[in-house]
This record gives sequence, C-alpha cells and structure tokens, in this order.
Amino acid sequence: MEAKALAYASDASNEERIRELRREGMLPAAELVALLATITPVEAPLLYAEAREVREQAYGKDVYLRGLIEFSSYCRNDCLYCGLRRSNAHAERYRLSEERILSCCEKGYELGFRTFVLQSGEDLSYTDDDICDLVSKIRAAHPDCAVTLSIGEKPRESYERYFEAGAERYLLRQETSNPWHYGKLHPAELSLANRKRCLDDLKDIGYQVGCGIMVGSPCQTWDFVVEDLLYMKAFRPHMVGIGPFIPHKDTPFAHEPAGTLEDTLHLLSVIRLMLPDVLLPATTALGTIHPQGREMGLLAGANVVMPNLSPSDVRGKYLLYDGKICTGDEAAECRACMARRCASVGYQVRVSRGDHVSRRAEGAPAVR
Ligand code: 5AD
Ligand code: FES
Repeated sequence: MEAKALAYASDASNEERIRELRREGMLPAAELVALLATITPVEAPLLYAEAREVREQAYGKDVYLRGLIEFSSYCRNDCLYCGLRRSNAHAERYRLSEERILSCCEKGYELGFRTFVLQSGEDLSYTDDDICDLVSKIRAAHPDCAVTLSIGEKPRESYERYFEAGAERYLLRQETSNPWHYGKLHPAELSLANRKRCLDDLKDIGYQVGCGIMVGSPCQTWDFVVEDLLYMKAFRPHMVGIGPFIPHKDTPFAHEPAGTLEDTLHLLSVIRLMLPDVLLPATTALGTIHPQGREMGLLAGANVVMPNLSPSDVRGKYLLYDGKICTGDEAAECRACMARRCASVGYQVRVSRGDHVSRRAEGAPAVR
C-alpha cells in the first residue's frame, strides 16, 4: 500500500514507535504511517502483545457476544464494494417479518445473547414507525438486552425516534475519512460529509456509536488509513468495526485484491493502543480471509465477536463479499463454535450486555 507520509517519518525503530504508542496512546501521523507501512513479521508480536495487555487491563479475558440479525438484503444504495448494491441483479433479496425477527431474538436470548444487532441494507420499505415498533417490542420482551441498529444513513429525526424507542447503540462505518477516497468507493449521491453528519448526530443523541473501515479497500493508502485513525481518535467512538475488504464477484471491484490478514491485525492493535477501552470486534470478514482470523484478532486486541443469529434459510443471501463463512450454520452451532474459538486462545465469552467501559467510570460499580 502506498504511504506518502513515510518521507516525513523519523528514523525511530518500529519497536520505539510501538512503545511510544503504548505509553502515549498516540503517535505523530507520519510515525503511524511508517509503523503500519514497514512493520515486519518479527516486530508484529510486540505490537500484538502490547495491545493484548491494554485490552486485558480494560476487559480482562472477557469476550462480548453480539447476536447479528441481518433482517433485509434490499438496499437503495450502490456502494461499489458491496454485494448488496442495488445494481447487483444477481443478489437474492429477502426481508424478515417482524415476527421472524422477534423469534430470532427469542432464540438468541435462550442461547445467552444480551445484545441484538439489527442490520440491513438501506431498505426504505421499513418506515421509521416499523423500526420503532420492532425496537420497542424487542426491548419489552427482553428488558435486560441492548438493541443495536445498523441500518445506514438517516435524518437526525429518525435517529432520535429510534433512540426514544429504546435503541441505544448504532453502527455506521465511515469506510474512509478521505473525501477523494470516499468518492472512489461510493456513488456520487453519497458523501463523506453526510456520513460524518450522521455519526455526529448519533453521538449527540446519546447512542453508543460504532464507526469503522475496511482494510485494503481499493485506492486505500496508509496515509488515508492514518486519516481514519486521527478521525477515530478525535471522534472517540464506543466501538470500531474493522475487517479486510473482500471482493464480491458481481461488483465493479470483483477483480481487486482483498485486504490482508496482517494489515488487519496490525490495525486492530494500533486502534486498541489508541483507544484502550473501545469495543473492538474480531469480524466475520477476518474469519473469512483466514480460518483462525478471528482468534488471531482476539490475540491482537479485539474483544467482541458477532455470531450470526439470522435464520439459516436467509443467511446465504446476505452476501456483502464472496466466501462469507458461517452461512450454513444454526444459531446454536455458531454460539457453541464461538465459545470454543475464544476458549482456544484463553478467552471466555461473557453472557451480558457488554457495555463499553468508560475510564471515567472506573471505580464505579460495573454495569455490564
Ligand atoms: N468486503 C468487506 N467488507 C465489506 N463491507 C461491505 N462490503 C464489503 C466487502 N466487499 C462492510 C462495510 C459495511 C459493513 C456492514 O460491511 O464496511 O459498513
Ligand atoms: Fe458461525 Fe463459527 S461462528 S460457525
């Protein structure tokens, strides 16, 4: 990946950079670019170990579970990287009824999930009333659970209504913090300015907010990735979702290379060191590019996993990228499989809402 700012970096070693990042929670931009662009397989274990230590200070050995319910594969957008883009005529589209979504939550609850993430394409057939009804019914059925929405860009008023209905968390990746790069990944009608407006509104309303990027997306440079890191440091998200870009065969990026395992792991660690108490998922995309990708993610500083709770007959239809794992499993199998995977690297899944821990709240009784 290109890295123009490398020219401005000091002659510090990567070990020095890692130690300073751990100590200060930040590095000058050119040093971040240099670290990410030049770190070797010999140097990486130190970065992972520092990130793991910081993660264990905030969260111990706990891994939080979020049950993902992909409730509609319809999307009005045409993002160039995404298999659900509206111009992909081969994508199989489905919508889950409210009844089916509620029964997914029911099943998830029995399996120990206390957070439900409702994700979909930008499907305008669900009105704000529909989303609010759904959220309040889930909250009424499971008052001890958190509801996370991941349904895209909306007007502020809509976000306010969902919040009042009981949604407390929202995931919306910025995808890139560079306007030129944003334009390369998205159709002209979408803008980074509006994406950031959404993120600011969500935070302002009081949501726990997740932002994030794909690693290795087309036209990405290390300079852009560092712009993302600076954005994250300033925005202070509660969660950061990052996973490798993986091409989808029916998109304009079909022949672009996927993001790498190593780049993704390095970034997970750097984000952990910059935002010590952030919720950081080891994503399905990471598990897709390597059979042990998620386990390695946990060992590089991640502390959340999001097994799929969608009904098995629709799982194979929510395909953002090629080769997605876990499309044939039942919710119970995914849950058991994740518990085994976490245990295999010395961590344990926690049955709780798994709220973001704020350093300011240290010393206060933990409400997790
Ligand atoms: N590869 C990896 N991640 C993708 N996403 C969408 N398409 C792809 C792809 N081809 C990610 C985006 C989006 C999230 C829901 O999934 O970052 O925000
Ligand atoms: Fe779904 Fe492993 S997480 S089968």
